[in-house]
Amino acid sequence: MTDLSQLQSEALAAVAATSSLPALEEVRVAYLGKKGKVTELMKTLGAMAPEERKAFGATVNQVKDTVSIAIDSRRAVLEQSAIAGRLQSEWLDISQPIRPERSGRIHPITQVIDEITAIFADLGFSVAEGPEIESDHYNFEALNFPAHHPARDMHDTFFLQGDGKNKTLLRTHTSPVQIRTMKNGKPPFRFIAPGKTFRCDSDMTHTPMFHQIEGFVLDKKIHMGHLKGTIEHLVNTFFEVKDVPVRFRPSFFPFTEPSAEVDIGCSRENGELKIGVGKDWLEVMGCGMIHPNVLKNCGIDPNEWQGFAFGLGVERFAMLKYGIPDLRTFFESDIRWLQHYGFGALDIPSLVRGISQ
Ligand code: PHE
Repeated sequence: MTDLSQLQSEALAAVAATSSLPALEEVRVAYLGKKGKVTELMKTLGAMAPEERKAFGATVNQVKDTVSIAIDSRRAVLEQSAIAGRLQSEWLDISQPIRPERSGRIHPITQVIDEITAIFADLGFSVAEGPEIESDHYNFEALNFPAHHPARDMHDTFFLQGDGKNKTLLRTHTSPVQIRTMKNGKPPFRFIAPGKTFRCDSDMTHTPMFHQIEGFVLDKKIHMGHLKGTIEHLVNTFFEVKDVPVRFRPSFFPFTEPSAEVDIGCSRENGELKIGVGKDWLEVMGCGMIHPNVLKNCGIDPNEWQGFAFGLGVERFAMLKYGIPDLRTFFESDIRWLQHYGFGALDIPSLVRGISQ
């Protein structure tokens, strides 16, 4: 018995002396592990006479329980102090200002998408999305590009796998989002769809990946006046210039009829581009009234519903507004370029303060 109580006080002293979780685990193994001192004593029970076994067994069990309770409570204390230690050493003062040279910048493409989204949110438009890998059906067929129609050649498509109806490709424009949104809901619709688009084209003024924003309105009695008014509002608010001259030139897209290309007035004197003044014109987007076939393809009655759509190039808008001369620099991931042309994370566009304040 003395042996046992000595063993117990020895174990408790060892537990109390530990200062880390691994040290505590060592003590546990030394006393309660498979070959631990207490465990070894339990193993001797089998060879004892029944009476002796009863008395000795009860005491050994008590020692075992006492030691393991002591270990558990010591563990709780050590765990607590480990957490406190980490909190102390990993403490960070998040109220300190960041060093300007280390702060991240918002890419002009993101900024322009946010600005245009703010303008349309204010008009009650929602934001829709679609996949970048599309099927031939959504990218062309449902948008009234018949198979083998020459209009398909206007888009230098990156084709992926598959044949016929199952052919997949990288979407060449954001217009397939028109079809997806119409099929997933019921008119009226009023949305914009920003996103990446892809064409197999690369030179001074083209990159194989670029961004578009699709605009789409479908309701009763929508006419070209609504389209024109919406685009004028967009251009005036975005460029923050009053009464930017806007010109609609007849054009062709299979999914709109009539179709138009939109130019805005500008001047290009002395190599400087100014929006809203001068005698030059600059093409900024395609648009038109939604073709009845597109509505029929989505199960919508064109006699009941009419609307307009437009598609604008985000890079174009960004270059014009922020004076970025070279398209390709957008995608070079040059941190110095981003420091120069990028925006602060807190420059969140809103109409209240003026779109680019
Ligand atoms: N999707 C057309 C393009 O990429 C642009 C467009 C959109 C034209 C909507 C008319 C209506 O060229």
